[in-house]
Amino acid sequence: MQSECAGLHVGLIMDGNGRWAEARALPRGHGHEAGIAALRRVAEAAPDLGVGTLTLYAFSSDNWRRPPAEVAFLMSLFGHYLAAEAERLAARGARLSVIGRRDRLPAGLADTIARAEAATAAGRRLHLRLAVDYSARDAILRAAARVTCLDDLTRDGFSRLVTGEAPDVDLLIRTSGEQRLSDFLLWESAYAELHFTDRLWPDFGPDDLAEALRIFRRRERRFGGLPAAA
Ligand code: FPP
Repeated sequence: MQSECAGLHVGLIMDGNGRWAEARALPRGHGHEAGIAALRRVAEAAPDLGVGTLTLYAFSSDNWRRPPAEVAFLMSLFGHYLAAEAERLAARGARLSVIGRRDRLPAGLADTIARAEAATAAGRRLHLRLAVDYSARDAILRAAARVTCLDDLTRDGFSRLVTGEAPDVDLLIRTSGEQRLSDFLLWESAYAELHFTDRLWPDFGPDDLAEALRIFRRRERRFGGLPAAA
């Protein structure tokens, strides 16, 4: 098993690409392209802001309900991003993983993912995880199906089945003014702090991440206990 990168685990629901494009009278695809540029900026800034694991919601298992043309565009964008970005991520010490189902992805994309993961496997500064065809409820169901002995089941053991090696989420951010979890990292976010911002994802940048982390660091995390002074 690979050791995790030191630092916080931040989950990011990148929402608002479509509205960003519509506000500029552009096709929705332009919003997704601008979303990739935002992703690049945020991932580059993350390690210096104390983030060790960054999990980004790129395509949910429910996103298959979108018009076929938008789904095809997004899938081709993922392929291009992964092929173009792997070397750059490796040079910056980032390890890339893709979580979610791979059996429903277009031909060739699973191979592109595997190549990008292999090319970045040595990264220790940032673990960048992209959730593609991802559903937290399905991840929990798949973990349950792997349980062989209920008597031996522990929270930690089950956690490993659900999440692999990734730590619990410390901070979960959603952009674009929506305030819901949309089946993202449900098990891992049991004690996550939540941060909602009106900023649309393509406009979100390192300053917004820094601000979310500043607010996070002021919060007292009690994990069900009492305040430190009590
Ligand atoms: C939500 O915005 C965004 C998505 C469903 C796709 C996220 C994809 C990207 C940020 C770009 C590609 C990412 C990678 C990893 C290459 P929306 O379309 O739901 O926006 P809306 O709510 O304004 O319509």
